[in-house]
Amino acid sequence: MPQVEAGNTAHLVKHAITLLMHGTVSDWNKHFSVRDFNATIPEKSKDAMFMDFEYRERWKFYHCVNQRFIGNKPIDYLEFGVAGGDSLRSWLRLNTHATSRFYGFDSFRGLPEDWLTDSPKGAFDQQGRLPQFEDDRVSIIDGLFQETVDAFSRAFTPRNRLVIHMDADLYSSTLYCLMHLDRHIRPGTIIFFDEFTARDCTDEYAALRDYCTACYRDYTVIASRPDFVKLALEIVR
Ligand SMILES: C[S@@+](CC[C@H](N)C(=O)[O-])C[C@H]1O[C@@H](n2cnc3c(N)ncnc32)[C@H](O)[C@@H]1O
Repeated sequence: MPQVEAGNTAHLVKHAITLLMHGTVSDWNKHFSVRDFNATIPEKSKDAMFMDFEYRERWKFYHCVNQRFIGNKPIDYLEFGVAGGDSLRSWLRLNTHATSRFYGFDSFRGLPEDWLTDSPKGAFDQQGRLPQFEDDRVSIIDGLFQETVDAFSRAFTPRNRLVIHMDADLYSSTLYCLMHLDRHIRPGTIIFFDEFTARDCTDEYAALRDYCTACYRDYTVIASRPDFVKLALEIVR
């Protein structure tokens, strides 16, 4: 017994010193992601269009990308994280092509995990109520991504250029969707991120990085806010 206690104490002291000197595993993850982000994103954004805008004016950003890179041609728009439907409504107004298709995915039960201090598990909960869209180009896929996206992706046949809008905030949700859409992602696919740098780049950015690593994908940033929080990229490989 005394030996075990002594061993435990030594272990605890060593652990405390490691924490003081180096921080927690979460600190390491954040440190790594920020360094990786800084080494990657400015370089990939050399030719990007930069524009500054407030959150409530996100539609202006979508408008510019739609005009400049999509040209109001028909798209297959897939949005992950619909909540009350604001960003999906913006896209319906912006891309008016009759053969565009719009798919919105959400559980309408809010975030499945804690995220930011002011956005815990359940944030953005719509009590399961689906937003209404008076536009027959829209389909809503109701449920946890982990229960809906795989079946959707297997059955889906793209008809138009793919535009993916990731607005689900979490690493798990973002990575899950990207991995399950990989069979449809091509050079030319556009992907928007709404909270690209959140939690020290450990959510959407880290999910994109891990997806690209696992699926041998590469991209160039086509448009961004100067702080890189909201960003659009085009897949090049
Ligand atoms: C920031 S809100 C979306 C905001 C919306 N795009 C807008 O314009 O108002 C994030 C949404 O992602 C959804 N979400 C996140 N992870 C999910 C998952 N794994 N499955 C289903 N829905 C998820 C939440 O329910 C929440 O409604």
